[in-house]
Amino acid sequence: MRADHPIDATLTAILEQARWAPSGDNTQPWRFEVRGPRHVVVHGFDTRSHCVYDLDGHPSQLSLGALLESMALAASSHGLRMEAQRRMGMPDHLPTFDAVFVDVPGMPPDPLAALLPRRSVQRRRLSTRSLRVSEKAALAASLPPGYGVLWLEGARTRFACARLMFNNARLRLIMPEAHQVHRDVIEWNARFSADRIPDQALGVDPVTAKLMRWIMRSWRRVDFFNTWLAGTLAPRLQMDLLPGWYCAAHFALLAEAPPRHIDDYVAFWLTATELGLQLQPELTPLIFARYVRERRVFSRTGGLQELAQELAVQTRALLGDTVSERAVFLGRIGAGPPADARSLRRPLKDLLVAESTHA
Ligand SMILES: Cc1cc2nc3c(=O)[nH]c(=O)nc-3n(C[C@H](O)[C@H](O)[C@H](O)COP(=O)(O)O)c2cc1C
Repeated sequence: MRADHPIDATLTAILEQARWAPSGDNTQPWRFEVRGPRHVVVHGFDTRSHCVYDLDGHPSQLSLGALLESMALAASSHGLRMEAQRRMGMPDHLPTFDAVFVDVPGMPPDPLAALLPRRSVQRRRLSTRSLRVSEKAALAASLPPGYGVLWLEGARTRFACARLMFNNARLRLIMPEAHQVHRDVIEWNARFSADRIPDQALGVDPVTAKLMRWIMRSWRRVDFFNTWLAGTLAPRLQMDLLPGWYCAAHFALLAEAPPRHIDDYVAFWLTATELGLQLQPELTPLIFARYVRERRVFSRTGGLQELAQELAVQTRALLGDTVSERAVFLGRIGAGPPADARSLRRPLKDLLVAESTHA
């Protein structure tokens, strides 16, 4: 079936809802090839060729896991169970899945499905009210078997997390490879963005945003500001230190055994939305700690590998030696209003491909 043929209405409804799955930098690393009324091929891809945060493809794999989980939740609203199978023999950077939807008479809809378009990242300050026992229990119960959550809470621990995020942000802001990524993924002067992150969702005040926009136009400006004018301070304060402090807790999702990836963390985020809690992923400390562990060279700039090593030590100290390699997801959470600026999504018609187009 070609993408320009009318698509089954139920399948369209499922894909319309599932495309709200979160993805790193809102890259939406998936395209859909509709093969029949109950069969869609998900053509995944990663951004390792140009994104320093995705050199091993793991963040894109997490995003694809979020998409598959969202598709399964959306399918449940139509009494369908999704069976997804990864296609063997595809290259690592092109994970491809056959998703088939099977009628299950009497299957109840998963109430989390309705929250898919509403869930959104909140990068601004949250309430420091501690999570209630019932909230933590509901969040922990949303995880699949084999996964658990480590809560990092209390003033002292929250401050240590905020400091780690603040230090980690320096690495990102003084790295030319990361500058390229940030330049490409921010949509300036925007409250919403279909294919990137709007600057108003970054968590900085309008003056800082304006300055960042001007500075980020060239690496020479960034380098000059960083070297002579402490250019990383204002953004790190606003985007890392203060939000890191102003939240109920940070958390790490842990796998029982050192994992490759986790498919089922969207339920955790949707459950947070259901409870009126806001969440922000904080994945970069885990990404660079993994690069250090696997001796992956991520920058041509001298001193940055060493800085990443120091940050990996700090991350391990925070999470604990035995736990840090089992952490698959790191974030902060707390009560507060949802973000009023957010990433939107590409329209479904732009995500549909005929097989030949994708190849
Ligand atoms: C694998 C993954 C990693 C992410 N890492 C971060 C992060 O380190 N910091 C952050 O603020 N948001 C992070 N995000 C959130 C995305 O930027 C966000 O989900 C995306 O822009 C879509 O926006 P929405 O979640 O508001 O719909 C991450 C999301 C995913 C799926």
